Order: sequence, then C-alpha cells, then structure tokens
Amino acid sequence: MITLAVILVAVAALLYYGTRNFDYWKRKGVKYEKPLPFVGNNLQGFLVMKTESQYGLEYYRKYLNEKVVGFFRSTTPELLIIDPEYARRVLIQDFAHFHSRGIITHKKVVQPLHRNLFQLEGDTWKLLRQRITPIFTSGKLRAMFPLIVERAEKLKARTLSSATDAAPLDVKELMARYTTDFIGACGFGIDADSLNQEDSEFRKLGANIFNIRVIDIFYTILKHVFPEMAKNIKVAKHVEDAMIEFVTAVIKKRNYQPCGRQDFIDLLLECKNMGTIYGESIEHYHNGVPEKASLEFDDDLIMAQVFIFFAAGFETSSAATSFTLHQLAYHPEVQKKVHEEIDLVLSKHNGKLCYDAVKEMTYLEWCLKEALRLFPALGVLTRECSRPYRFPEINLTIDPGVKILIPVIGFHNDPQYFRDPEVYRPERFHPDEFGSTQKQLYMPFGDGPRNCIGARLGLMQSVAGLAAILSAFTVEPAPESVRYPEINTRSTIVQNIKGGLPLMFKQRKSTL
Ligand code: HEM
Repeated sequence: MITLAVILVAVAALLYYGTRNFDYWKRKGVKYEKPLPFVGNNLQGFLVMKTESQYGLEYYRKYLNEKVVGFFRSTTPELLIIDPEYARRVLIQDFAHFHSRGIITHKKVVQPLHRNLFQLEGDTWKLLRQRITPIFTSGKLRAMFPLIVERAEKLKARTLSSATDAAPLDVKELMARYTTDFIGACGFGIDADSLNQEDSEFRKLGANIFNIRVIDIFYTILKHVFPEMAKNIKVAKHVEDAMIEFVTAVIKKRNYQPCGRQDFIDLLLECKNMGTIYGESIEHYHNGVPEKASLEFDDDLIMAQVFIFFAAGFETSSAATSFTLHQLAYHPEVQKKVHEEIDLVLSKHNGKLCYDAVKEMTYLEWCLKEALRLFPALGVLTRECSRPYRFPEINLTIDPGVKILIPVIGFHNDPQYFRDPEVYRPERFHPDEFGSTQKQLYMPFGDGPRNCIGARLGLMQSVAGLAAILSAFTVEPAPESVRYPEINTRSTIVQNIKGGLPLMFKQRKSTL
C-alpha cells in the first residue's frame, strides 16, 4: 500500500515537473498549441523528425493573422514572432533586451566547445565579438582571397576530371569538399586537399561535426528537460576532443605565436596576444550606467572560435552553393545569363578569377541570394530576453529567459513581401524591385548586432566557387535528380538537403 502511494506521488510529481509552465502563454493571452508533457510542442524536433526551420514555417503560415504565437520546447516557453515590425525591434531597435541567442542549456556550466561566438551570451559574447570583429574586415578578406581563388581553381580542375565520363556529380559533396578546403586553408593554414582525397582527416572532422549521433540527441533532450541534473553531460564530446587535438597541434607547430599567414588561427593568436579584453557591460548597470567588464582570451577560447568558424562557415556555404547549382540546372535561362556575365567579367580580368572579378559578378550574386531566400541556412533566428520587455500594442510583457524565434523562412516565402515567392527569380534583387520592405525582411545572414560575422566572407567565397564551376560548365538535371529534394531533419541548426544533389556537368565554350 505504501509502495503504491509512493509510486503515485512520484508519478504525480514527475507529471507536474513535465507540465509545469504549460499555462504560461494562456496567462499572457498569447495563442499556442496544446503541449505534451516533457516535450511540449517539440516532440518531432526532439526526435529529429522536424527541423526548427520547418516548425518556423508551419507556425508562421498557420498564425499569420497574429502578431506573435507561443511555443513550448519541453516545458520552456518560447515566443515566435509573426509581425515583421516586432522582429525588427527584437533584432535591432531593442537589442539591449535580446543580446543572447538562447541556445545554451545551462548558464554557468558551459562546455569548452560551446564558448564560441555563436553560442556565448552576455558580456562574454559582447567582448569577444568586439575583439574578433577586425578579423573580418574587407582588408583581411582581400588578403585571404588568393587562398580562396586557389581552392576555386582546384574545384574547377577536379570537376573537369570527374565530368568527362558523363556520369552525374553530387554537387552537395563537391561543394562540401570545396568549402572544407577553403576552411582548411583560411582557417587552419593547412592544405586539406579534401577535393582529391576521399578520406582526408580534415574532411572527416567536418563530417563529424554535422553527423549527429543518437546518443547526442538523447543528451540534448536530457539537457532541455533536466538542465540542472544534466549540466555536466558533454554533447558531441568526440568532436570536442578531435577539435582540441587538431587546434593544439597547429598552435604548437607555430610555437604558440602568430606566424604571419593571416589565417584564422594566426588572427586569433594575435587576438590572444592583445591580452585581456575590456569594455562596457551589457548585463550589469549601476544607476543606468553600464559597469566595466573584462574577459581573458585563453587557448580554449581560440579552440571554440576555430570550431565555430568551421561549423558556421562550412554547412552554410556548401548548402547555399549546392542549392544554387541545383536551381540553375532547372533554370537554363537564368544559367545562360550567369554564363554571359562570367565570360564578360573574366574577359576584363585576363580570364583570371580575383577579388575584383568576383565583386563584379552581380547577377551570380543575385542567384546565390535567391537560393538563400528560398532556402535560408538558418530558417529561424533566435534571441533570448534578458531584461523584461513589452510589446505595448498587444499588452504583452516578455519575461527574462524567454526565447524569441524569428521565422526568417516565413518572411522570405510570404507573397505579401516577395511576389510569387515559390519561383526562383534572381531578378527580384534588382534595386528597382528590391525595396525597403524586402531589405528589412531578407535576412539570410541574420540582422542587428548579432548578425553573421562572416557574411561577406561566406558570400565572396561562395560566389568564387560558383564562378569557377560555371566558367567551365553547364549544369543540367541528372536522370536521378529530384526537382524538390527532401529536407534533412537531422541537420538541426543549418538547413540542408537529405541525400545528395546529383547533376550532369557539360563542358562549355565562352559565350563571347
Ligand atoms: C553563405 C554563408 C553563410 C551564411 C548563410 C551564414 C548565416 C548565418 C546566420 C543566419 C547567422 C545568425 C545571425 C543572427 O542570428 O542574426 C550566422 C551567425 C554567425 N556566423 Fe554565419 N553564415 C555564413 C558564413 C559564415 C562564415 C564563413 C563564418 C566564419 C568563418 C561565419 C561565422 C558566423 C558566426 C561566428 C556567427 C555568430 C555571430 C554572433 O553570434 O555574434 N558564418 N551566420
């Protein structure tokens, strides 16, 4: 009898724990869908059957007449923004209330790999961003460009040798290798040459970051449902170990000092040599005046930034470029214009791809941008409220700790803002058509002070890779190509396609 009572009390306590907060949005007068115990509205998300972007698009379309809608990830309330004006306030105007991304599950216990710019919060994020922003200036980008061009030329050569046998090439794999090579050279100062080596160590490291293991899915759920209990569990420990080993070896080889190569490791070592970072706090104020904050730049911080440059730069660029090639294969009229532009620009630069040539390829850039509109790398941007905030029009106060979801994918595919949104039409980026509304709502690199720090680099490197391929080839659908490929629901943060993207490559002559 006592045992039964204990069991009943335990079950009731557990159920209470797994449903606590479920009246949160009701109390706030915000619409939401009925959540399930422990998982909230995110069952398919936890089971990696639906991505954050798919949820974002679904909720955006379903609640288009609302300004905001509630969501529960496990028992934690989150707020999805529908009104673009509200999105602007969160991302830009009232950023002081929303400077955190809200993706670490424990505020104090953060595993070393997660001390990166993408995940860090508060003052640590602010000071780090302040210190590493100069790494991404146009001067540094220009200095890196010969390395990018070298990789793009290799990409072309590799494609030339593979394309002769008239078999389809998987552009997803091809562009992933190109991006890995670029990151190897610009990030780590190594000649990864993953374009030619099937099993290069570096390529494996890249693949490991994105191949989520079942055990890590389980750990992630635990960290969301029982954050305190699971705070010491490390997610993707094998990636962390491999990354520490890799970066330590490179730094050791350089004698722990910058060597003048101007790659990321070099630039990060320079950041470390500049000593402690000082600045104004965004977390702590005294009588309305920000207090002083400081941060030590240690080796762990270097490792975590190298990891994020790899993780944030790799999947995003390779997904964007391969999806662009896929679209071009199905839009020969657009591809013809791309070929004409490339031929014209290259003829002005002695047939050589260079920084200035890439900058002149406006139409090709529109093609990439249009692919990122239809299929943004991050379909949903996230921020976390750090100080109470009010949306006065709907009388809603957002409490600290509530995560805000901005469904960029919804805006990008909404006919109110982008005419015939399902059509791949790069011309919509022509300044005559791309007005202030589109500028405000087109956010493939995010927006505000926490936008993508590598946007220009990502864009230029992607256009260079596309230009190298399209200068020599026409791409066409292969017999096994799928017009509307399925989304990979295992790719949790960055959107990607399930399986490959096979295309036929045909060598072409200049249009001039
Ligand atoms: C086509 C390529 C790329 C795309 C589409 C892309 C997209 C994005 C997006 C959407 C965000 C979130 C922005 C926000 O929340 O407002 C982001 C953040 C970030 N990206 Fe990129 N990215 C690309 C390339 C790169 C590259 C090449 C690097 C570095 C080498 C990079 C490093 C980062 C970092 C560090 C952040 C976090 C910034 C912060 O929180 O302060 N990205 N990126």
